[in-house]
Amino acid sequence: MKRLILISAAMLLGASWMAPSAMAEESIGNPENGRVIFENGVGDNVPACASCHGAGGLGADDMGTPRLAYQVQKYIWKQLEDFSTDKRMDNTMYQMNDIAKALSEEQRRDVASYVHSLRTPFLGSDLDQMIKDGEEIGTAYKGQILVEHGIPSRGISACMSCHGFHGRSAGNMFPAIGGQRYVYLKHELEAFRAGHDTPSSEDDASRDNDPQAIMRNIAVHLTDADIANVAAFLTSTRAVTVGNPGAPHR
Ligand code: HEC
Ligand code: HEC
Repeated sequence: MKRLILISAAMLLGASWMAPSAMAEESIGNPENGRVIFENGVGDNVPACASCHGAGGLGADDMGTPRLAYQVQKYIWKQLEDFSTDKRMDNTMYQMNDIAKALSEEQRRDVASYVHSLRTPFLGSDLDQMIKDGEEIGTAYKGQILVEHGIPSRGISACMSCHGFHGRSAGNMFPAIGGQRYVYLKHELEAFRAGHDTPSSEDDASRDNDPQAIMRNIAVHLTDADIANVAAFLTSTRAVTVGNPGAPHR
């Protein structure tokens, strides 16, 4: 009996602790202003984000653009800041740096809060179609092993230790990578790998805006096959899973 009471007290405590994170988080900007930017762009210098990132922010493999919908808003904001200061270079379409510079700080926050509010389903890439089109695609189950366990003997930590189960994100610093576009996932991992040895100021194909080289130190140990395998697995995972309807919610 005493034990039961203790357990329920712990549950109550747990519940009150959980409440703030389960409740709607605070928006970092004005999502309505962000929607207008996303759908219409701003003046002559900022094209509509939707023209490349797709209606609903789903991203597109044929352009190499990422899914933005539901992504952690502070992560999106950080990327826009990094593009605006050339800390990160758009090495796919070479447009994001100019676009981010043409937005005000407030507009970058607004559009980040808007794309985060999009609840577009996690569809991922259509790997079957890509295979039919003759593309070589990685093997998802091998990628799953890397995501869940890493390969400690090769210096590769389990992706989910930072990015959460199925890559559904784990707080402000760690973006959702589950349900992301296959082409984009591959491209970013290759860019982090290149960024390990060559800074983006010297080679615009590399990415080095990850704090403390956290991603570069992992990507440097990945082979081309590892990258294709994790991308094949992650694009097909659903960031929102049964029992966790809110994630990624920060
Ligand atoms: C001309 C096409 C184009 C337009 C228009 C465009 N983007 Fe992008 N965006 C890209 C590409 C390509 C990338 C991938 C860059 C790379 O890593 O090489 C990208 C990357 C991003 C990222 C990084 C996402 C991540 O997961 O790290 C953010 C955030 C972003 N765009 C936001 C926006 C916003 C907001 C707008 C509108 C104001 C916008 N983009 C307009 C092409 C575009
Ligand atoms: C030690 C923590 C950590 C581990 C382990 C880790 N990551 Fe990351 N990853 C990060 C952080 C932090 C960022 C965000 C970098 C930034 O702020 O620009 C990131 C960013 C990324 C991105 C870019 C996302 C985007 O939208 O542009 C991809 C893709 C990625 N990680 C894939 C992986 C994969 C695959 C693994 C496992 C092989 C992995 N990560 C393991 C911390 C980690």
